Formats: sequence, structure tokens, C-alpha cells
Amino acid sequence: MTPVAPSAEGLVDRYGRVARGLRVSLTDKCNLRCTYCMPAEGLPWLAGPDLLTDAEIVRLVRVAVGRLGVTEVRFTGGEPLIRPGLAGIVAEVAALRPRPRICLTTNGIGLDRVASGLRAAGVDRVNVSLDTLDPERFRQLTRRSQLDAVLAGLAGAASAGLTPVKINTVLMRGVNDDEAPALLRFALDHGYQLRFIEQMPLDAQHGWDRSRMVTAEEILAALATTFDLSPDPAVRGAAPAETWLVDGGPARVGVIASVTQAFCGDCDRTRLTADGQVRSCLFATEESDLRGALRAGADDDELARRWRAAMWGKRAGHGIDDPTFLQPARPMSAIGG
Ligand code: GTP
Ligand code: 5AD
Ligand code: SF4
Repeated sequence: MTPVAPSAEGLVDRYGRVARGLRVSLTDKCNLRCTYCMPAEGLPWLAGPDLLTDAEIVRLVRVAVGRLGVTEVRFTGGEPLIRPGLAGIVAEVAALRPRPRICLTTNGIGLDRVASGLRAAGVDRVNVSLDTLDPERFRQLTRRSQLDAVLAGLAGAASAGLTPVKINTVLMRGVNDDEAPALLRFALDHGYQLRFIEQMPLDAQHGWDRSRMVTAEEILAALATTFDLSPDPAVRGAAPAETWLVDGGPARVGVIASVTQAFCGDCDRTRLTADGQVRSCLFATEESDLRGALRAGADDDELARRWRAAMWGKRAGHGIDDPTFLQPARPMSAIGG
């Protein structure tokens, strides 16, 4: 498949999709060690000189927003809060015109301390990962005793106005799949919007097993034991989460069924890794090196041209069900979800 750069302005692909959401991974490092994500000892982290500098990140986001039609920028990791320059990067991105919406996906540790500063810098809302409400289970799952820190982070985000605060929960069989109703009750009580996520084959250990994955159907059946779920009249658009009204609404719960009900046909996302590679898809096996071009002196037109060419090569779908499916070499923690 030889990508041919399209003449169109934005990030279009050959299936007619247009990428307006940019997910930027700010670091591949993390201060948790979730068992479904990485081994206890961590991973071989990206080398410092390979990471984009704060100024390089802002430059690339400026190209995406100014020339390629990106309207929403989500900062991810690893764990984005451990990047020292985060607030400064956010402030510069918030100063771009047209101003993009700015979101953050974080594990929540330390968020209570920085939430109001990030709000002032320009973050509009946050999504926080939380897989269990049980402290001992949290310790086993993340290999760190940090449940209280995450709960404080959630509360801090809400009081700083980083709303709606969404929670991401990956349910795993025999690990936390008995907690679905309790997690939803917790989210409803605190005004957070919970989304359950089907586990995807993106773990560094390559231990994902489809037959063990908790499916959207199972998640909904578990919730239906305790709650009345009805279809959400709100337009889903390109969102990964399909949402339901809980007990008549207005509270909602979401399910991100990437595996059993893939939503690739509506995808509007492009990704930039912490070392400056464009990924057209979470599951892309090819990347396009913008860092190399940028450091070799490429101007904004050239960076935009390369980005468009990368997206033109986006595949129709992730292909998890294909017999030829290959898990990408880069693990979830280095892509940013
Ligand atoms: P909202 O705009 O708040 O709905 O954010 P989001 O759900 O798009 O982002 P978030 O970072 O919270 O991701 C939640 C889950 O959705 C994670 O497991 C992501 O990996 C997954 N996700 C996000 N984008 C994609 C995508 O394009 N494809 C797939 N398969 N999963 C995605
Ligand atoms: N499949 C689905 N979601 C995952 N996450 C991490 N690894 C996986 C996986 N293999 C979730 C995290 C976080 C979000 C960015 O992605 O829990 O909430
Ligand atoms: Fe860190 Fe996210 Fe992986 Fe957990 S899932 S170890 S929070 S990168």
C-alpha cells in the first residue's frame, strides 16, 4: 500500500474519514505498573534525546490545529502528569487559534494538586483510569498502594471544574469483573461518568487472550442486575464509548467495545507519540517520523504534507479478528491509548 498524499486540506483517509482529534503521548513512563499494561520492572523507556521537546510538541500541535483541521487535543502517556512541562505545553496549545478543546487522560495520581493550575492553563476536561475501589485489589492490579491518591485526584478534578470527569475501567475476568455495579454506583454518587473498556491486545507482555476478555455484552448484563439502562438519545459521533442512560438519566454509563463492536468506521483520530511518530491508528504497524523531518529543518508545509500522507495510509479497521492480525510493536503505554 503506497500512500499517496491527498490534495485536500485536512487529515483525510482513503475511506473518507477525517481526523479532527489528536492524541499526543507526552511520555511513555508511568508511576503505576498495571499488570495488564506493563511488567513490574517497567519497560525500556524512550531515550531522553528521542523525546520531543516541549517546543517541538507545541510546533507539531500548531501544524495540526492551524493547517490540518484538528479541533481537539488530548494529552496522554504513559502518565502525562509526570511530564514536567505539561502546564506550559497546555498553555501554549490553548493560545492557538482556533483554540482546540484540550483534554487529558491520566491515572489521577497527583491530579488534586495540579487540577486548578491545569484548568487555568487551558485543560477543559479529564478522563481518569480506575479499575477497582478495593485498596488491596488496587495494589495488586497496579503494583502500587495509590487508590487514595486516585480518589483524591478525581475529587480535585471535579472541584477544579475539569468536567465532565470521566472514569475509564478495564474489566478483567476473575480480577475485577465482580465490581461493575459498585463502580457505577460510586461514579453516580460522585457525578463522574464511568466507561467500561473491553481489554485490547496492546499489553507489553503480549498476554491478551480473547477468550478471557470481558465483553460489552457481559458488562451490560452485569450492570442490568442493579440498574435500568436505556439507549442514550445523544449523538455518538466518533466517540469510542457507546452510552446508556442510567435509571432514566440524566446520568450515563459508557462501554468502549473496541473488540466486539469495533467503531473504526467512524474514527476521527490521529496520534503523535512522545518520540514524534505519527500513528494513523492505535493498532498501526507503521509510523511516520515527524521528529526526524522537524529536526532536519522541514517547514510547516512539509510537516503537514507528511502528516496527511501518513493518515491517507490509515487502514479501514484494526483487524483484531483477522487471522493475520499482528499486535503493534509499541505497547499501549507508549502509544497513549
Ligand atoms: P472522550 O472524548 O472523553 O470520550 O475520550 P476517549 O474515550 O476517546 O479517550 P480515553 O483516552 O479516555 O480512552 C478511553 C479508551 O478508549 C482507552 O482504552 C483508549 O485506548 C480507547 N480508545 C481511544 N481512541 C480509540 C480508538 O481510536 N480506537 C480504539 N480501538 N480505542 C480507542
Ligand atoms: N485495553 C483497553 N484499555 C486499556 N487501557 C490500558 N491498557 C488497555 C488495554 N490493553 C486503558 C487504561 C486507560 C486508557 C488510556 O486505556 O486503563 O484508562
Ligand atoms: Fe500506567 Fe496507564 Fe499502564 Fe496503568 S494502564 S501502568 S496507568 S500507562
